[in-house]
Amino acid sequence: MSTMPLRERPAWKALAAHHAEIGGRHLREFFADDPGRGERLRAEAAGLYLDYSKNRITDETLRLLIGLARECEVEQRRDLMFSGAPINTSEHRSVLHVALRMPKGTSLVVDGVDVVAQVHEVLDRMAAFADRVRSGDWRGHTGKPIRAIVNVGIGGSDLGPVMAYEALRHYTNRDLTFRFVSNVDSTDFVEATRDLSAEETLFIISSKTFGTLETLTNAHSARDWVVGQLGDEAAVAKHFVAVSTNAERVAEFGIDTANMFGFWDWVGGRYSMDSAIGLSTMLAVGPAGFADLLAGFHEMDEHFRETPLEKNLPALMGLLTVWYVNFFGVQSVGVMPYEQYLKRFPAYLQQLTMESNGKHVTIDGRQVDYDTGPVYWGEPGTNGQHSFYQLLHQGTRLIPVDLIGFGKTLNPLGEHHDILSSNVFAQAQALAFGKTEEEVRAEGTAADVVPHRVMEGNRPSNVLLAERLSPRLLGALIALYEHSVFTQGTIWGIDSFDQWGVELGKVLAVQITPELTGTGDVSADLDSSTAALIRRYRALKG
Ligand code: F6P
Repeated sequence: MSTMPLRERPAWKALAAHHAEIGGRHLREFFADDPGRGERLRAEAAGLYLDYSKNRITDETLRLLIGLARECEVEQRRDLMFSGAPINTSEHRSVLHVALRMPKGTSLVVDGVDVVAQVHEVLDRMAAFADRVRSGDWRGHTGKPIRAIVNVGIGGSDLGPVMAYEALRHYTNRDLTFRFVSNVDSTDFVEATRDLSAEETLFIISSKTFGTLETLTNAHSARDWVVGQLGDEAAVAKHFVAVSTNAERVAEFGIDTANMFGFWDWVGGRYSMDSAIGLSTMLAVGPAGFADLLAGFHEMDEHFRETPLEKNLPALMGLLTVWYVNFFGVQSVGVMPYEQYLKRFPAYLQQLTMESNGKHVTIDGRQVDYDTGPVYWGEPGTNGQHSFYQLLHQGTRLIPVDLIGFGKTLNPLGEHHDILSSNVFAQAQALAFGKTEEEVRAEGTAADVVPHRVMEGNRPSNVLLAERLSPRLLGALIALYEHSVFTQGTIWGIDSFDQWGVELGKVLAVQITPELTGTGDVSADLDSSTAALIRRYRALKG
């Protein structure tokens, strides 16, 4: 692949010149000059309709952005990813989450192994297990059926499962209770299990490495909780299953590997909710619901793989983010689902986007001289509107937003859904067009209040619309953002699939724990701030 520095690329330079020309133009002008823009600047795939007309772009911007994508070989790198090439170079790994959702009967051979066959072997085992638990056939140690499922995991081994559970709650088996324990803060475990009975509880210990301190600490507490209540070590066999790539460590912990569901090092943690890490999701929505989820992912994968960039939803969204980050100096992007069930979607996206593209060197190790991944954040609408949207509308920062709406609600109730949805369109409108001084004056506003009520507008947004939230739609939505992240990362020339930055904190925490539990002098090797904090902590701890 070409290693020309990004800022030296002809397409980059052309975009910089183009930005100097149109960067200051207003969306009001763009719409006035081209009234059909809203009909034209849209794309559709896998049940998702994207209106990207309220972005500060012209046809020329799109042409140049797509030119940049081609110069950066987004299509070639995409094809390499789909072929199983080791594009995660710093970890020497393939990046094959797309294989997790390839249909049964298809095949993808990497290093002589058909990974799709491997995937379906695990999916079949998961389905058989899920059916046994859901039907009451799987019994706990005292012979009672399972009524509560607790997923213990963190990061990618938690955020996907908890987000999917919340998102698909409408489709879940309401006879089962689901809980998610991630934080090593004991409160998380204690509150999650307070009203549960060990006799009827199944723990899924989810950890790709089975070496994550938070998860292992919670897993040990879970084991003590079960054995403490049931009075027998043998109970572990009926109340614990594991999801991991590391059979040895699972066995060491004491879980029979017959009750382990595996996956592979070519699945990144933040790309793993559709692997066995999704076991809690499958238990909640059933194997058929999980298959629908995978079908949605796959449909978007195919769209990303086959559609020309000009009509390619993930590519367009990724390129728009590059446009704002690198040419407008945008630091953050908001994602606002107008669907209560998607309340954890922004939190899920934070790991997907920021752990992937929070990088400061290129794949070949050079310090970048441009910004990479923006901060992603968000809350369900309309709650956010009564909180931070003020800053979006009238603050000094430019924050592009994705507004996600649905034609149908899963819980029809009076006028609620139309009221909710009117906000999607109204917010996109207000952000784009604002309110001019003349308009404010014409309303008879007192002169001294006029400047406070003027809304500059020209705030970009994407509106994503779908018919209704379903497992299939959720899969498509997640894959959309996965591939948008891929597109961004490829333009920036970074490795979107490693996460070395989170390792330092883990190492330092392990070194500090003995300082907190010890009674002697704190280590002389510590900096004065950390040493003073530890002394104060010990005093507070008593
Ligand atoms: O937080 C860092 C991280 O490595 C994430 O990438 C990962 O999803 C998480 O820890 C959990 O890791 P594991 O599944 O191995 O416990």
